[in-house]
Amino acid sequence: MLTKYLLFTPGPVNVAETLRVAISKEDICHREPDFDALLRSIEHKLISLFQIRKQTRYRAVVITGSGTAANEAMLSSVVGKGAILILSNGEFGGRLHKTSLIHNKRTHLIEMPWGTAFDLNQIEEYLSIHKIHVIAMVHHETCSGMLNPLPQIGAIAKAHGALFVVDGVSSVGAEAIDMETSNIAFVSSSSSKAIGSYPGLSFVVGRKKHFKKLKHHAAKTTYLNLATFYAFLKNHSQTPNTPAVPLFFALEQALTDILREGVIKRYARIKARADMLRVGMRRLNLEFLIDDADMCAILTTVRVPPSISVRDLRNRLREKSIIIYEGKGCFAGKVFQVGNIGELSDYDIRYFLAALKEVLLTLQVKAAEPMAAVISMPATVAMLPAPNLFQAKVVS
Ligand SMILES: Cc1ncc(COP(=O)(O)O)c(C=O)c1O
Repeated sequence: MLTKYLLFTPGPVNVAETLRVAISKEDICHREPDFDALLRSIEHKLISLFQIRKQTRYRAVVITGSGTAANEAMLSSVVGKGAILILSNGEFGGRLHKTSLIHNKRTHLIEMPWGTAFDLNQIEEYLSIHKIHVIAMVHHETCSGMLNPLPQIGAIAKAHGALFVVDGVSSVGAEAIDMETSNIAFVSSSSSKAIGSYPGLSFVVGRKKHFKKLKHHAAKTTYLNLATFYAFLKNHSQTPNTPAVPLFFALEQALTDILREGVIKRYARIKARADMLRVGMRRLNLEFLIDDADMCAILTTVRVPPSISVRDLRNRLREKSIIIYEGKGCFAGKVFQVGNIGELSDYDIRYFLAALKEVLLTLQVKAAEPMAAVISMPATVAMLPAPNLFQAKVVS
């Protein structure tokens, strides 16, 4: 029996039925023309997710490994002997820093408190003092839900002759990313977030001219060397090592579905879902960690109401087949996170809001607290039956 949950997380996600079919396609060998064609199709479709006017100037390599693999591939492959500056304002910026320290002796860091926007003047000033060859930043800092400004940082990088490298793990597939205007040399992402496929694959999209130069750097890893990925892609339309072929079939299907819907249309649909969730949660008098204008379209970070334990909230929602995220690090116990990617319908969102209301009421009554936080909730929002999705997709 497959237990079914509605994944209101920033990934992994509930995948479409088309992907469940695609992942169980025929067995093929990754050193045969079938796989070459599959990889070419994936590459073309991945590049189409971005706003790129001259698509022939870009290439995309696909890595068997989660988003961290793509980030480590970029950080270990693009720096050479030069200096890299990591911009961090959260958990994932911190991870970029940690990874870079392993591979790059000359790793610099500008660090802001979690959930705080970068100070562009500070970055400018830092670059006018230090010679930096590469700047790396997370686009959507998933720990807070904050979207960091690509065009502004890209312009600063260009002005100082630095390559701009972006962790787009939780934004690619949901947010418009203009590679050219933002001067992005390389961007990473993963299969299992806004793209809506299974976990296990990640990729790096980059300018061909930058991929070509990677071979001049001494290799720092075997498995995650981007120069090797690029050489195999260019020469054979293959990957250097054995890829997780079924995941490639699923990724190809996810990308086909996205392009069929239309990239911009899809981004607007994801944003509309976020808006629906945000309006509903505000009606429950919940407050968000950051301003709407700074949020990514895939995730809402919500302050935990006083007297409520986020662990209890999660557990109670799980009993209703709903999965949310808890805050980590300095946000632990203070926030919870609600994602809106994957196969979630409008009904699922209404079901979530009704379940959240019921659980908050129950927990507040249990804590014998005044009902202040929920007292003005609309009385008409009754608990809805669990979505049909559960029954339809249960496999015995
Ligand atoms: C922005 C960002 N970068 C990197 C990662 C790490 O990705 P993975 O867990 O797939 O390795 C995540 C995961 O949530 C993320 O949100």
